[in-house]
Amino acid sequence: MSSARLVQLLGEWRGKGSRSVSAGLAAGIRLLMYDGQLPPGTTLPAERDLASALGVSRTLVASAWDALRAEGLIVSRRGSGSRVTLPAAAARIEVSVREQPLDLATAAPMAMPGLGSVVDAVRGAFAAELSGHGYFPLGLDVLRERLAERFTVRGLPTTPDQILVTNGAHHAMALVLRVLAGPGDRVLVEQPTYFNALETIKAAHLVPVPVAMPEEPAEGWDIEGVEAVLRQAAPRVAYFVVDFQNPTGRRLDADGRERLAGVLRRTRTPAIIDETLVEVDLDGDPLDGPPPMAGFAPNLLITVGSASKSHWGGLRLGWVRTSEELIGRIAAARHAHDLGSPVFEQLVLAQLYADPDPMLREHRAALARNRSVLVEALREHCPDWRFEVPRGGLSLWCELPAPIGTRIAVAAQNVGVRVAPASRFSVHGGLEKRLRVPYTLPAPQLVDAVQRIAGVANRVTGSLGTLGSDGLIPVA
Ligand SMILES: Cc1ncc(COP(=O)(O)O)c(C=O)c1O
Repeated sequence: MSSARLVQLLGEWRGKGSRSVSAGLAAGIRLLMYDGQLPPGTTLPAERDLASALGVSRTLVASAWDALRAEGLIVSRRGSGSRVTLPAAAARIEVSVREQPLDLATAAPMAMPGLGSVVDAVRGAFAAELSGHGYFPLGLDVLRERLAERFTVRGLPTTPDQILVTNGAHHAMALVLRVLAGPGDRVLVEQPTYFNALETIKAAHLVPVPVAMPEEPAEGWDIEGVEAVLRQAAPRVAYFVVDFQNPTGRRLDADGRERLAGVLRRTRTPAIIDETLVEVDLDGDPLDGPPPMAGFAPNLLITVGSASKSHWGGLRLGWVRTSEELIGRIAAARHAHDLGSPVFEQLVLAQLYADPDPMLREHRAALARNRSVLVEALREHCPDWRFEVPRGGLSLWCELPAPIGTRIAVAAQNVGVRVAPASRFSVHGGLEKRLRVPYTLPAPQLVDAVQRIAGVANRVTGSLGTLGSDGLIPVA
């Protein structure tokens, strides 16, 4: 990593350590490590370069490096500089790390049962497409028809012309943002929210403005807070995940939908409604859930959806559902970046939507079993973690006994588990008392991952007694 980049990441580091300027620099670097921004293996800039970039003496940098080295956070080799390594507490845990880490950072299930046989079934339809050019910027007609039918069955009358097929919901969101907003515009988001949505917003040079999800009641959105931000910050567009929100798992009921739509109507704010998880209703039937949000303010709400959680992420298919006029504008914007989604996968998904419910039901039942496995494993191995069991979605949003979420995430890498620090679900970091734990790994791996994380959590909690008054491990 270059000195310039590290200086940028450090931001206001002076004063971070209570004891000395070098302690402040060490504290700033340590926070970047715990926050995952300086992952293990990163090579740090040479002391001399960093000193000159920071406008401090080389001795000061050397003393910060000494402190980090003493804690086992960096290792230095003559001639090859210093590298970020793992916190000493975690490094003492002796387990064999597999080559493939257990992935609790991705809340995405394996393919739904039976998908393989559908792949075989569409070979004929695919062969029939080969005589055409294969470019469908709006998506294959057959898929648009079936997606429109699904919306209609769910209570939102929709025509195929209101659908544009994309390469996933993430892509869909990026396209909608490109059409609705421009650099510098504000975008209202829930906090916590899906971290890649924040990445997309920032990459489009938009400014995310968070509204906190209330801690209590666990079922709920702060709709008054949303209205206040809409009036004060006048965001160009808002983004909501009202069905099994990622990461909290919450679902907004029909009454809440009406109230949320009301504030959007009063402030004339368009909103992207991300329905990626709507089909992952583990205690009920998605067809019996609250009516689709877009029906509550048809002129303002744009739905993005996905096959990733209901069928399989590897299909890389999603969609936008909005007015025909806006679909035309989004399709035009799409041409600058890509020219359509793969035909074979669209045929597979169209086939899956020909009679979707039996397979979806089976998939949901398997996920519900996995949810029970995780709940039991956490109750057994992490008894002081608190969580609500969500009725849908793919993860538990755990409350930890202390603000140690990022430390656990960093240390977990050393025991072969990847887990996303909760700070990633927030606009400005923080949320240290939370950890999102998905139940998408196969059951035996899930239990294994929880046991490893529990070991790490105990170590980290054990090291808390040595924390300094600034909440960090003392450096001197
Ligand atoms: C709320 C939400 N939106 C979008 C996505 C990404 O979906 P896709 O794979 O369709 O791009 C995810 C994936 O985790 C998600 O949770």
